[in-house]
Amino acid sequence: MKTGNGGYTFNLVNLREEYVFAFIRNGLKQPIVVAISQNITFRYPLTEPTGIHTSLTSTQGQIRVVWTTSAFATKPVVSYGSSGLEYVSEGTTSTYTRDEMCGTRASDYGWRDPGVFHTAYMTGLIPGQTYMYIVGDAKEKVWSSPKTIKMPRNKDTTVIIYGDMGHAPADMSLQVDMQIGSTNTTKILANEVKDIDAVIHIGDISYARGYVHLWDEFLYQVEPVASAVPYMTAIGNHEADYPMSTSYWQVQDSGGECGISYDRRFPMIRPEVQFPDRLWYSFDLGYAHYLIIDTEHNFTTGSPQFQFIEQDLIRANQNRKNVPWIIVLGHRPQYISSPKWALITDDQPVAKLMRLHLDPLYLKYRVDVAFWGHHHSYQKTCKVNQNVCLEDGGTVHVVIGNAGHSLSTFVEDPMPKYFEFVDVEHFGFGRFKVSQSTVTWEYVNDADGEILHEWSLTK
Ligand SMILES: [Fe+2]
Repeated sequence: MKTGNGGYTFNLVNLREEYVFAFIRNGLKQPIVVAISQNITFRYPLTEPTGIHTSLTSTQGQIRVVWTTSAFATKPVVSYGSSGLEYVSEGTTSTYTRDEMCGTRASDYGWRDPGVFHTAYMTGLIPGQTYMYIVGDAKEKVWSSPKTIKMPRNKDTTVIIYGDMGHAPADMSLQVDMQIGSTNTTKILANEVKDIDAVIHIGDISYARGYVHLWDEFLYQVEPVASAVPYMTAIGNHEADYPMSTSYWQVQDSGGECGISYDRRFPMIRPEVQFPDRLWYSFDLGYAHYLIIDTEHNFTTGSPQFQFIEQDLIRANQNRKNVPWIIVLGHRPQYISSPKWALITDDQPVAKLMRLHLDPLYLKYRVDVAFWGHHHSYQKTCKVNQNVCLEDGGTVHVVIGNAGHSLSTFVEDPMPKYFEFVDVEHFGFGRFKVSQSTVTWEYVNDADGEILHEWSLTK
């Protein structure tokens, strides 16, 4: 064929630069460029707020909102209110540089300008109430589309929990790295944000692993969810780990980002000073206390994190009358059905180390449930401590690491006796419904929304 024409619709994310399309022959390995498009630009490439996401802070009635633009936008503002945009709050700006990256590919071929991250706070919000807001630049007068955010309820709540999601382009065009399974998770959750109070994404967030633009793509995908309910996160190996960095595990899983790229985009409830090797924190939501463990930095007895965990559990246990449920979450699992024992970073040696140091604390302060990711499957134990099912005491451990990346089909045969249910065949996530006397968990199939496993605990 000598001539012809056709069409295909692409979905482009604003990466603060112009795009060019190239029409190629001869495959991707040795492409021959046949034609090049004109430059394609966005209406406000430098100042359009992108990747809008929110989180809880340590202040009651406050929501933090973070968004990205180029450094050209210098007057970040959030405008919000319940009936109109009656309140205005100025933000602050941060970013990171190539020099802060720990190694390849973040420091070389994965690098591009990450833009800047604006952070602003909405305060005085009433639990259960929905607010409208816009973010943007007060000097350039460029604003986001109107968003809504629900301040979580302070009694019965529903929290969505999953790990290891990643992203995939909305048009399904090929990309350097993509996690097709993530698409359904985001779609389902975008349709139920009005019914949920928060999301907790327990590590392996974007799988950018050194490619800066993949953070933009991920934040674009989750914005319908993360701009509408607080999107709380824990760090995973694919955000943190790198040799000669502060990570406990000296492997290359973060692609050279060594926690910096994650930390600047997801400040969470920590001292405002950037401190990428101390990413543990906790918060109360309704009738549950959530303790987020950072499994990528030292958690062993005597470490700063261990001391935080113990002090936090002491306080939470003393506050049972008001907040009856204590929930622990982190990336690498403490109980796991997996045959991987060979390396110290493999599932079982890590789980064994976690049990050695943390199981005694869970028993002493009666942690009710622990949620983990990393193994891309769904797994649920009995109430267990030191590998023994207990009638009284003991913690239910749940692995929910199958929100998008892939499926980890490697499990033990026979299954360890403390596992009650293991699923390695579906992508999914969980709904954790908490009331004063009962917690109920629904494990949801990503493909059709069907509940594949359900259990509850009562007090
Ligand atoms: Fe992981």
